[in-house]
Parts: sequence; C-alpha cells; structure tokens
Amino acid sequence: MSHVTQPEDGATASSPLPSPLSAKRVRVQHIARAKAEGIPLTMLTAYDSLTAPILEAAGVDMLLIGDSLGNVMLGHSSTLPVTLEDMERATASVARSTSRVMIVADLPFGTYEDSAEHAFASAARLMKAGAHAVKLEGGTKRAHIIEALTAAGIPVCAHLGYTPQSENSLGGPRMQGRGDGADTLRRDAEAIEAAGAFAVVLEMVPATLAKEITSAARIPTIGIGAGPHTDGQVLVWSDMAGYSDWVPSFVHKFGQLGPALKEAASDYVAAVRTRSFPGPDNYKND
Ligand code: KIV
Repeated sequence: MSHVTQPEDGATASSPLPSPLSAKRVRVQHIARAKAEGIPLTMLTAYDSLTAPILEAAGVDMLLIGDSLGNVMLGHSSTLPVTLEDMERATASVARSTSRVMIVADLPFGTYEDSAEHAFASAARLMKAGAHAVKLEGGTKRAHIIEALTAAGIPVCAHLGYTPQSENSLGGPRMQGRGDGADTLRRDAEAIEAAGAFAVVLEMVPATLAKEITSAARIPTIGIGAGPHTDGQVLVWSDMAGYSDWVPSFVHKFGQLGPALKEAASDYVAAVRTRSFPGPDNYKND
C-alpha cells in the first residue's frame, strides 16, 4: 500500500503541473522566498543529459548532481571513489540540457575538507562546469569552508545528519541526531546558517528534530528520510522513479521505470528474434 497521501481531487501525473518557483532560472532568492511563503521545495538528483531535461520539464526546482553518481551510475558501493572529474562531466552534461532548474553539484570526498583554498579550487571547477551552487557534507567543522566559498560568490548547500562520505566513521547508513546527537545537530545547523549556507539537506534525521531545526532555521531545510516537516524534499531520481527493486524505506516509488524498461527491451529482443522488427514502417526498399 502506498504511504504517499493521494490528492483528494484525484489529481494524477497528468494533472496540470504546479507553477514553477520561477519561469526563468531558479536562483537563491527564489529558494529563500519559497521558505518565506511556505512553498515546499523539490529537488531530485540528476547525472546526465538524457534524464535531466525530463526532470526539469516535470517542474523540479533544483537538480542535485549528487555524488550518489558513484553508486547509481558508476557501480561503486559508496560515494568515496567519486572524483572531481566524474562530477564535472555529470554537471556539464546536466547544465547543457537544462535552462530553468538550479543546479547544485556535490563536492566529492577528498576535494574540500582540508582547507578553504582546496575547497575553492574544487568548487570553482564545478561552477565552471555549469553548477549554480555546491553542496558539501558536515556542520560546525566545515563552517569556515562555507564562509570562504560564500564570500567568493559560490552559494553553498550544507548536508547534515547521515553524511555518506563519512559512512565509515558513522557505521553505515543509520539515523543521526538521536540522544546526545540531537544537540550536535542543532549546533551544526546554527553554524552552517551563520557561515552563509543558503540551504541545508537533512538526511536520516528523526522527523521531530527535523521539524524543530526547520522552524528555528532562516534557511530552507531539504529532507531525505527526515519526515514531512522540512521545507523541501530530495530523492535520488532513480529511486523516485522505481528504477531498481530495492529502495530505502524512506523512499516512495512514484513510477515503475525498471520493469517498464525491462519489458521494452524484452519486447525488442523477441521482435528481432521473430523478425517482426524491423517492420514495413521501419525501412525502405529503395
Ligand atoms: O548524493 C546524493 O544523492 C545526495 C542526496 C542523497 C541528498 O547527497
């Protein structure tokens, strides 16, 4: 049974799309205004020029070139092997194929943690590839980096809670912010806001704590596995679309893309084997 509340008026995917935050490029001021006006923000990951324009046409506000690229597209078992070159290529590909969404690109592991200078050099490469903002993981300990990037004209989205680049020290994907961790998370949220972050992703955080942080913060919170009270939501696009069988429990599959693709490909195989493809419409004799 679906755990997504269905609209009472029976609206479906074919209903009119909600009006976008901006008819032109979505920028930081539109994101800030959405929080002020209580308009829920939508963000999905994107990694390529085949998928990104479809997600943009669906009305998404922000596309995140997530370092989940490593798991989703490159076959890695974590985000740790993802390189700046991987992120540049994906960012450029999404930038070339979209015109309205705000593009947020992840700074991959090992490209920003040690100094503000290193972070700037890495972030500049992602901005030159077409990003409009970067995302980085960590709170208080990254505040000086957020401050430096913001001062250099690079909008920064912070990422708190479960931070996949620290999966080894966090003991794998698990809820953060329970017990004493709640205070640390509150302090981290304050620190990244004071440092100038324009938004913050809250991943795998108890819904009550996410709600509290959301009402205390002046910047928008974007939740993933953090309940319904954040200012926006983000999902990995292929999880959202039902591309693979397994998805985390906080995901709802809004489509069945995996089975649909498999069916199309097996129909193709059968048609070639039975010589029903190519059919008369698909070729010319002269
Ligand atoms: O890389 C990613 O996809 C992310 C989201 C899970 C927020 O950081």
